[in-house]
Amino acid sequence: HSKKKLLNKKVLVTAGPTYEKIDPVRFIGNYSSGKMGFALAEKLAEQGAQVVLVAGPVSLKLAHPSIQRIDVQSASEMHEACLQHFPQMDAAVMCAAVADYRPKKIASQKIKRQAREMFIDLEATADIAASLGKLKTNSQLLVGFALETNDEAQNALGKLQKKNLDFIVLNSLQDQGAGFGVDTNKITILSKDNNVQLFELKHKTEVAADIVEKLTQELAKL
Ligand code: C5P
Repeated sequence: HSKKKLLNKKVLVTAGPTYEKIDPVRFIGNYSSGKMGFALAEKLAEQGAQVVLVAGPVSLKLAHPSIQRIDVQSASEMHEACLQHFPQMDAAVMCAAVADYRPKKIASQKIKRQAREMFIDLEATADIAASLGKLKTNSQLLVGFALETNDEAQNALGKLQKKNLDFIVLNSLQDQGAGFGVDTNKITILSKDNNVQLFELKHKTEVAADIVEKLTQELAKL
């Protein structure tokens, strides 16, 4: 048997998409399944961590009984839950596919079909990872994800700096079997000390184990 490596560590994980309401029956969402974030939460808990999982709307269940799950819908609800919990955490892994924009106004009644064209005014949501990056202390670790289609490493490094992350997990949509909806993923981990680690295509549970291993090593350095 192997010793649990994250006993007494508290880790926040965000997972899944967010839904931004348009009217009582419609929303703006995305195809994130939440599988990567849920797999991470399970692996962290297996290592003895106390996990708070802030989950957008997904149809997933957790196996590990000790994970504290907070279900939210919108980016703003996710942001609020993260701000509440982050100060008590040793690390946060931002795995959610948060909407970048939301409707400026939510219609109180179902919007009726009218003209041939219609427009919805959008406004930017808060960048949750960046906002935790501003609050981060020297004894906390912040991890982000980047899903890229081009100039992958350069874009990922830009996000790492902008959001004040310690490392970022890059998925390229150019890789077969990586990204939304599938059970596998192929990642590259880029660290703020310019270290780059390439990984093979694996099941998301094994990818989660690699990320948890990296997180454990980095926590030990703090
Ligand atoms: O900038 P981009 O959305 O590509 O960055 C992705 C990373 O930032 C992910 O870790 C994601 O969870 C996080 N993020 C966030 N809040 C947002 C947008 C992205 O936490 N509003």
